[in-house]
Amino acid sequence: MEQLKRVYIRTFGCQMNELDSGKMLRLLEADGYVSTDEMEQADVILINTCSVREKPEQKVRSLMGRLRPLKEERKDLVLGLTGCYAQQESGALLRSFPWLDLVMGPDAIVRLPGLLLDVQLGRQRVLATEQLDRQNYPFTNDLVVRDESGATAFVTIQKGCDSFCSFCIVPFTRGREASRPAKDIVAEVRGLAQRGVAEVTLLGQNVNSYGLKRSDEPLFHELIAQLAEISGIERIRFTTSNPWDLHEGLIDLFRSEPKLCSYFHLPVQSGSDSMLQRMRRNHTREYYLTLVQSLRDARPEIALSTDIIVGFPGETEQEHQATLSLLAEVRYDFIYSFNYSPRPHTPASRTLPDDVPLDVKKRRLQEVQALQAEITRDRMEAWHGQVVPVLIEGPSRRDPSWLSGRISQNWIVNFPAEDAPTGSLVDVQIDRVLTNCLLGSQYRGGAARRAGAALPVLS
Ligand code: SAH
Ligand code: F3S
Repeated sequence: MEQLKRVYIRTFGCQMNELDSGKMLRLLEADGYVSTDEMEQADVILINTCSVREKPEQKVRSLMGRLRPLKEERKDLVLGLTGCYAQQESGALLRSFPWLDLVMGPDAIVRLPGLLLDVQLGRQRVLATEQLDRQNYPFTNDLVVRDESGATAFVTIQKGCDSFCSFCIVPFTRGREASRPAKDIVAEVRGLAQRGVAEVTLLGQNVNSYGLKRSDEPLFHELIAQLAEISGIERIRFTTSNPWDLHEGLIDLFRSEPKLCSYFHLPVQSGSDSMLQRMRRNHTREYYLTLVQSLRDARPEIALSTDIIVGFPGETEQEHQATLSLLAEVRYDFIYSFNYSPRPHTPASRTLPDDVPLDVKKRRLQEVQALQAEITRDRMEAWHGQVVPVLIEGPSRRDPSWLSGRISQNWIVNFPAEDAPTGSLVDVQIDRVLTNCLLGSQYRGGAARRAGAALPVLS
């Protein structure tokens, strides 16, 4: 019998990339491949790359250096770069790394098995970085679960972005925005529910703009309402959103739809209006704060998180202080914060000098992170002693005799295992608060509450 070909996939970057890696693996499995965790054993090595900031890009370049001897030893090994850095650099990567066989962008994923065959049979190097227009974009069924138990899953609803914030490479690497037909999304979520998935996370670069450019599709909140009707689906999450396409209908849904989780990641980037303008964000600080207030009015227990960029060109001390004061005012549950790095093609990299010195960037980032660490600690401490519904995802990674799940507000909770099947909602009393998760014990005091049910207001 012919031996199965082994594929090793390494993923950098965001959830979109994780999902893309899952899709690539499924396509290859259907083509007779098996997955391996041992890079040295693989017949095909694919590195799914990220280019949103400088760091992940550097990691890929150094990994390519380490892969060179492997390829020199085994000429039949196929080495491919996929994802955003591959899209960004395109043919230049084939020139930089003569030991590389395949460079493929996100839009070519469905063609992967054929492209590998071209490399293997034709013994040629393949470049596949053309971008497809939004009318013909071939969304595939995702059917990729987030954990082994299969209680949770990601579902693509939209790809690309038309916003062109001045620092961001996403519109160049992921291309123009395209919304996936709602009937396909509903069918996929139905299928997932039948397989026991209880929680779906809807994915897109900017999910709030779902359906905005298509008269034949529902708007984002209307799509969520349709999905909430599917029996078996207990929780709906989504990521990521921009503030300017946040529709009132979505805010209303936080009032009326218990399946919609009490969690919103709403990137703000900066607390200063002059900075937001240079970043070409379509919102002001004040408008953003209005949104936060409306969300909290609609769902008082909602958890909020955001993205912050520190050291964007021209950032003054005053602008930096405005970001700190925004953090203090909003009191996010969690933030992601980054030092600015110029990205090729972006308006900022072409027109604004990267003029904030590295030591200033580092100090400001540290100030942002120290302030937020305090706020996060306070916000998490408020869970102490509370009884909260947890959707069970499976055994805890650290100790398999414990169970692990999430509260509606997205925090992970670990507790000693009892009779709680994967995908079920159980009440857990929070006994301890760690830096980035909660510990508890199963609560026997009453009937389990449904996800999203009213919880104490955290402030
Ligand atoms: N689609 C999302 C996020 C895109 S990138 C959105 O609408 O916000 C994820 C985060 O990376 C961004 O929110 C931003 O905070 C950060 N980021 C993007 N480009 C960056 C750059 N050039 N330098 C530093 N951080 C950057
Ligand atoms: Fe990037 Fe702005 Fe779109 S951050 S993904 S260009 S909304």
